[in-house]
Parts: sequence; structure tokens; C-alpha cells
Amino acid sequence: MKLALTINNEHVEIDTDPRNLLLNVLRDELGLMGTKCGCGEGECGACTVVLNGRTVNSCLTVVGQAHGGYITTIEGLAASEGGKSLLTVFADKGAVQCGFCTPGIAMSASTLADQKTALSEDDIRQGLSGHLCRCTGYVKIIDAVKASTEGRLNLPQLREKGFLPITDAQSPCFIRPDNLARALDALADTKKGWQVLAGGSDLVVKNENRTHTLNLLDIGGIPDLKGITRKDGEVRIGAGTSFSELIHSPLIAEQFPTLVAAARQIGGVQIQNTGTIGGNIASGSPAADIVPPLMTMGAVLELVSRKGTVTVALDDFFSGLNRTVLAPDQLIRQIILQLPSVTGETIAFFDKLGVRRALSITKASVAMYGKRVNNRLTSVKIALGSVAENVIPAPKAADILMGGELTHARLNQAADMLSTEARPIDDMFSTEAYCRLAVRGLLIRNLWHFVNP
Ligand SMILES: Cc1cc2nc3c(=O)[nH]c(=O)nc-3n(C[C@H](O)[C@H](O)[C@H](O)COP(=O)(O)OP(=O)(O)OC[C@H]3O[C@@H](n4cnc5c(N)ncnc54)[C@H](O)[C@@H]3O)c2cc1C
Ligand code: FES
Ligand code: FES
Repeated sequence: MKLALTINNEHVEIDTDPRNLLLNVLRDELGLMGTKCGCGEGECGACTVVLNGRTVNSCLTVVGQAHGGYITTIEGLAASEGGKSLLTVFADKGAVQCGFCTPGIAMSASTLADQKTALSEDDIRQGLSGHLCRCTGYVKIIDAVKASTEGRLNLPQLREKGFLPITDAQSPCFIRPDNLARALDALADTKKGWQVLAGGSDLVVKNENRTHTLNLLDIGGIPDLKGITRKDGEVRIGAGTSFSELIHSPLIAEQFPTLVAAARQIGGVQIQNTGTIGGNIASGSPAADIVPPLMTMGAVLELVSRKGTVTVALDDFFSGLNRTVLAPDQLIRQIILQLPSVTGETIAFFDKLGVRRALSITKASVAMYGKRVNNRLTSVKIALGSVAENVIPAPKAADILMGGELTHARLNQAADMLSTEARPIDDMFSTEAYCRLAVRGLLIRNLWHFVNP
């Protein structure tokens, strides 16, 4: 079908399969070879472009997701006055050696520069967490980004946003409805076997080189699945809310900071920009990092289909490894959280262990939520990630924590119980013994400083 894109400020119409990867379309069909292919699975950042104001991995984006959108590639950045000075600083600071990673890093640097001046080293490290460089050792890259983001850069328009729907009349194998009813109508035709596509960060990786064989239903343009709202003691988070939107929501930061902590540890910035809370839950993965904190807050999922709306407690949603109770004609519409009603000091955390800090699959994670009143913990809930076939609650350890004043002895007893409640196995990521020790250690390291002296 004909797709309409604005690339580097030029309107382009291109006749292509909307299920093709944006990276391949840019390079092979439009000759924009500056965007590189490194890993092809979201790990290295070499393929980074700016789509509708956000950095994305073009290797994990199908081009139909960009229909009507605004894309800036390294060619567009380099042609602008600000982009030229940014790249000159990179060269002057010795931040480029083989140069393979540079186009992607420059794209991320341009969005950092576009947000604010005076970035801290931490801001820059976090902003570049979705990139790998095999030559420079990063110090010079961080220096270059710091130097290039200190003044006003006059970069090309990075914030323009655009969207066009796609119907089955335009493309029988890729549709992009602009409202929920149309999406549910499509899903009701279960013979067609539509695969729901939100951000694509799981789906495209799992179907590497096969996206053009799937019938894809892109839910990224449905307003009903977006947004974070507060009403009548509840907060509702649309399933299509991205991790970046969670991270930057003042309401979530104030009421549910462990969600922000978990979202900040998911992938790099490009994955946080595209990956959604609904996709993370629907993947059914035991390593889905947004699930443990949601479980500790008693989250409820609203599922919709043409037959109607039902609610399911998150605790009852998973039915085995990578499996859920979601029917083929259903979508997760939103996640419902009750605002805490118990008073007292909130004690909550999410912590995970992986092989490195950024872009790492969780080997073990622990989330906890509770209140401290008169030196005693109440309303404690604990959930464990990556140590069973699904994310699981740990009620016995929570009961121990609530059994009396929080002392070192009580904390150790709860941590021992947590190791017992975990159900890990030896697999390619870690051993059973390691996971049991890991959850024990995560609880202790996060609660130790709350122990009453
Ligand atoms: C490099 C890399 C690093 C990553 N790091 C982490 C990490 O540290 N922690 C972590 O938890 N995850 C990580 N992920 C996994 C991934 O980003 C998340 O699982 C993401 O949240 C999936 O959301 P999405 O919108 O991209 O879903 P998609 O890939 O579009 O879809 C995932 C699945 O959910 C279904 N789905 C999506 N939305 C809905 C809905 N509303 N209703 C019903 N079904 C739906 C889809 O059909 C599909 O089966 C990483 C992925 C990559 C590529
Ligand atoms: S090619 Fe490595 S993230 Fe896309
Ligand atoms: S400069 Fe060679 S990979 Fe970064």
C-alpha cells in the first residue's frame, strides 16, 4: 500500500508492505544508509531514528506504525545547523572511532539537547542507555554529549507528530484503527488470526524476519487505550501507555513511585519510548518488570471485546510460562489501581538483578509495598519476578514482616521465607540456588535501613 511519511522535513509517499521494518525501508527503499543495522533486536541502538518526537529502534518498528508520522534520520540531523555542530563536537572530543554507533548516539543526543540544557552525567548515561559502543569506552561520548547539549543547538524539528489510520481495504494484512470499536470488530473475526501490535518491542523480536508473514493489528493509534487518569479514589492507566509516559507522569511518581522505578529499568530509552504497560503484562513473561510492582498494589485489569467488558485481578491473569487468560478477541484496555487508603509512611521498592544495569533481562526481582504506622509495617504485599513460571505473590514473607516491629531478626526471617516462596529452576539465565539467594538479598538490601535501631 502507499504509505505517507515526512522524512527529514520532506513529504514522501512510498509503496511498500506496512509490515516491513522501518530500518529496511529507510536503507533499502529510500537509500538513507546513515541509519545502521547492528544487532537487529533492540540492543545496540545503531538503528535509532526520531519518530514523532521520540527516539525509536527502527529495527523493531514496522513501517506501518509510522504512517502519517514525522521521522528524522541522521541525514536530516546532519543537514541542520545544530546537527552539524553536534557532530563536530563528537569529532573534536574523540567520541568517534569506527563511527558505526555514532549516527544512533547522535540521534539520542539530539533529543536530549532538545529537552533541556544543563544535563547531569546521570541524565546523559540514562539517555544513552539504549546504545552500545565497542570502541570509545563511553567517557568521550558522554563528554561530547555534555558539551553539545550545553548551548542552544537550533536542531531540526524533532517534536512534530502525525498519525494516519490504515483500514483493511487499504491493506488486508496490516490494519491501524483509530478507535477501539474498529479494533474489537477486527478481533471478533478470530479466523483472521490478528496479532495485536502495541509498541512491537516483544512481538517484532519474537518474529524476527517474519513480521511480513503476520496479520498485524496496530493498536498504537487508539485514544481509548492511552492516558493516565485519576477519579473517585482510583488511577486508570491505558494499556497503550508507554514506559516513558509512566516515568514522566507526576501522578504516577507521586502515588506509585515503584512503577517509575521499574519502568526506568526496562530496556533503554528507545524501548521505554515504544514499549507499553499493556504489552509487558500481555507478554505473560515472568521477567516482565512492570508486573511485580503492579501486583503489590492490587492492580485489576479491564479486558474488552465485542462481547463486553470484564475485570480480572492481575494475580489471576497469568496461566503459565508466557501464557495468560486473555482470549483471542480480547484487548487489555486499562489497568486500575486503588489510591492507597491506609495512612502512614509508605515503604515500597522495586529492585532487580541482571547481568548489567541497562538492557538486561531480569534474573530475579522483588517488589514490595507497605505502610509503616507506629514502627510496625501494615498492608504489606510482596511480588517476585523471574523466579517462577510467572510473576508470583509472596504472602508468607509479607505476613512475617507484618507480625511485629521490624527488627534485623524479623527481616532475616522474612527474607528466608521469600527464598522458600520463590520457585526458580536452573536455566540458561541462572541457577535455582542463585535465584533463591538473590530474592533474599534484594529484600534485605532494600529494607535494612528501615529497621528500627
Ligand atoms: C532490547 C530489549 C530490552 C528489553 N528489556 C526489558 C526489561 O528490562 N524488562 C522488561 O520487563 N521487558 C523488557 N523488554 C521487553 C519489552 O520491551 C516489554 O515486554 C514491552 O513492554 C512489550 O510492550 P510492547 O508495547 O512493545 O508490546 P508488543 O511487542 O507490541 O506486544 C507484546 C505482546 O502483547 C500483546 N499485546 C500488546 N498490547 C496488548 C493489549 N493492550 N491487549 C492485549 N494484548 C496486547 C501483543 O499481541 C503481543 O503478544 C525488552 C525488550 C527489548 C527488545
Ligand atoms: S540494530 Fe541494534 S538496536 Fe536496532
Ligand atoms: S565508535 Fe566504534 S562502535 Fe562506537
